[in-house]
Amino acid sequence: MDTALITGGSKRVGKAIAEHLAGKGWNLVIHYNTSEEPAERLVKQLQTHYPGQKFTCLQTDLINQNEVERLIRNAIANMGSIQLLVNNASIFKPGNLRKTSTGLFDDHILVNFKAPFILMRDFATFCTNGNIINLLDTRITSNKTNFAAYSLSKKSLWHLTQMAALEFAPNIRVNAIAPGVTLPPVDKDESYLWELAEKIPMKEPTGTDPILKSIDFILENTHLTGQLLFADGGENLGQNR
Ligand SMILES: NC(=O)c1ccc[n+]([C@@H]2O[C@H](COP(=O)([O-])OP(=O)(O)OC[C@H]3O[C@@H](n4cnc5c(N)ncnc54)[C@H](OP(=O)(O)O)[C@@H]3O)[C@@H](O)[C@H]2O)c1
Repeated sequence: MDTALITGGSKRVGKAIAEHLAGKGWNLVIHYNTSEEPAERLVKQLQTHYPGQKFTCLQTDLINQNEVERLIRNAIANMGSIQLLVNNASIFKPGNLRKTSTGLFDDHILVNFKAPFILMRDFATFCTNGNIINLLDTRITSNKTNFAAYSLSKKSLWHLTQMAALEFAPNIRVNAIAPGVTLPPVDKDESYLWELAEKIPMKEPTGTDPILKSIDFILENTHLTGQLLFADGGENLGQNR
C-alpha cells in the first residue's frame, strides 16, 4: 500500500486532502507544526475508519531548515517508503512591497518555498518513484502586491515545480494545484468568502472539492507532469469588467 506525506495536514485544506487520500487507500504521514492535538485526533479518526491502513503524524517547524532536512527521512523511517509528497503547509500574511519587512519576507520564503524545495529534493533523492503535488494559489497569475511575500513565494514554487518536473522525470512526476476562493482565513467567516466570490466567474466559493478532484486527476493521469491545475472557479481568467 502506498504512503503520502502531507505537510500541514491536520486542519483545513490539508485535513481534507488527508481524509480524501485515506479514503482512496493511502497510508499517511500527517505533518504538523503547532497543531499537535488536531493531528493526533485526525490520526485516531483515520485509524478507526480505515483499520487496515497506517497513519502517523510528525512535527516539524518548516522555518527551521535543520528540522526540514530530517522530515523525508523520518517519514520513510516511520512508514518504510513514501510515494507521494503534498506540499500544502503555508503561511499567508498581508503586506505590500513597501510594508514587507525582511522577517516577513524570510518567513514566507522559508515555509512556502525553501521547505518545499528541500522536501522535493530529498523525495527525489530517497524515493525511487512517485508524485509531488505543490499547493500554489491563483494569485500567482497577477502582480497584485497586497500579499507580496506570499505571492512571491508561490510564484517561485511554480517555477520550481516545472524545473523539478523536468529533472525528476520519468520516475517522479511533479505537478501543482492553484486554489482560489476556497476556505475563509481563520479570522473571517463564510460571508467574507461569498463577497470575494462575487468577483470570480463561477460566483461561489469553491470549497476543497476541486482541489481533491485535481489530486485524483494528477494521480490517475500517469503522463502528466510539470502542469498547473487551477481549482479556482475561473478566477485566474481575471474580471470581465
Ligand atoms: N484557504 C484558501 O482559500 C486557499 C486559497 C488559495 C491557496 N491556498 C493554498 O492551499 C494550501 C492550504 O491552505 P489552508 O488555508 O488550508 O492553509 P493554512 O490553514 O493557512 O495553513 C496550513 C498549515 O500550514 C502549517 N504551517 C504554517 N506555518 C508553518 C511552519 N512554520 N512550519 C510547519 N507548518 C506550518 C500550519 O500547521 P500547524 O497548524 O500545525 O501549525 C497550518 O495548519 C496552502 O498552500 C495555501 O497557500 C489556500
